[in-house]
Amino acid sequence: MITEEQVIEALKNVIDPDFDKDIVTLGMVKDVVVDGKKVNFTVVLTTPACPMKEMIHKACINAIIYYVDKEADVNVNMTAKVTTKREAKGAGSVLSGVKNIIAVASGKGGVGKSTVAANLAVALALQGAKVGLLDADIYGPSIPMMFDVIDEKPLLEDINGKTYMKPIENYGVKMLSIGFFVTNAQAVVWRGPMASKAFQQLINDAIWGDLDYMIIDLPPGTGDIQLSLVSSATITGAVVVSTPQNVALMDVRKAVSMFGHKDIRVPVLGIVENMAYFTPAELPNNKYFIFGKDGAKNLADELKVPFLGQIPIVQSICEAGDAGRPAVLQKDTPQAKAFLDLASNVAQQVAIANHRKEEKQLETA
Ligand SMILES: Nc1ncnc2c1ncn2[C@@H]1O[C@H](COP(=O)(O)OP(=O)(O)OP(=O)(O)O)[C@@H](O)[C@H]1O
Ligand SMILES: [Mg+2]
Repeated sequence: MITEEQVIEALKNVIDPDFDKDIVTLGMVKDVVVDGKKVNFTVVLTTPACPMKEMIHKACINAIIYYVDKEADVNVNMTAKVTTKREAKGAGSVLSGVKNIIAVASGKGGVGKSTVAANLAVALALQGAKVGLLDADIYGPSIPMMFDVIDEKPLLEDINGKTYMKPIENYGVKMLSIGFFVTNAQAVVWRGPMASKAFQQLINDAIWGDLDYMIIDLPPGTGDIQLSLVSSATITGAVVVSTPQNVALMDVRKAVSMFGHKDIRVPVLGIVENMAYFTPAELPNNKYFIFGKDGAKNLADELKVPFLGQIPIVQSICEAGDAGRPAVLQKDTPQAKAFLDLASNVAQQVAIANHRKEEKQLETA
């Protein structure tokens, strides 16, 4: 006879390496049901994009076989509930249903922020998360084109005498961009305060609903928009995009130090190296490090922030952006895998950041 207690005891041997604690203590084990040799239970991960999913699944089965009964018939139901530590600013805030806000930033223009933001959003949605994408590049919005929704117009809805925008949805991602409302030529002449105001409206005067992750595609640099963003919403963390060249790496230092500034204090979730190496379509296993190797990785180590991964430079990533179908949708290709891995690493860092905050609060309580 296998008992539920034996199952729980055995699962205390399964450690989640991200939090360095066992999954029972972490409260991840639910609904243990035993029927003869049949053992069923649910493991609730902190994100559907968990890179440890397979490993934890196997470890659970092994723990029951090893500690309880080698003939046990184990069925583990792997689910996820994304964690949050955002305190919504004010009750009834439109962002109160948004669990995590991730800003995608860079010190330098043209390094692939929008490409990374778009593919990160779609990758998280593909793995089952509820995802929103906010195009904060008021002067050069590119998200509508990247999602093939350039001619769409968000619907407006009146709630208690106030008008709200309904995000446009494609590939499982809800999005808003100034590009839905004005032409690039119109926005380009706006001054800073007007651009900040437009951004505030996109974030606050919208019906975002419940989201696990809201990705914000920032304009390059460290200007008004970034500052206004940080003051208007509690950001879970920032993903900093770089290319391998030294000039780009210098700008990464600037961006990382901006997020660490005492008035800003947004945790850096990590650095991603875009255009890390060239892979020709006809030789998908070859990697040519034309701009140097491991520059961003070494910089991440030096700055003591996580390294989130490398994205190859491939023609189809660029073409996918222009065609309005993010490259992560090109199934079973190295570029899709690179973006899926990136999304898992980002989701993992979000879970770790939330866990740290939780522990800190418990310590000071
Ligand atoms: N890994 C890649 N492989 C091939 N082309 C890429 C890759 N990443 C980005 N590109 C292309 O490089 C150009 C710049 O990328 P993107 O618009 O994403 O950069 P950005 O940092 O958002 O730029 P900006 O600072 O202007 O907002 C685009 O044409 C995009 O398709
Ligand atoms: Mg951009």
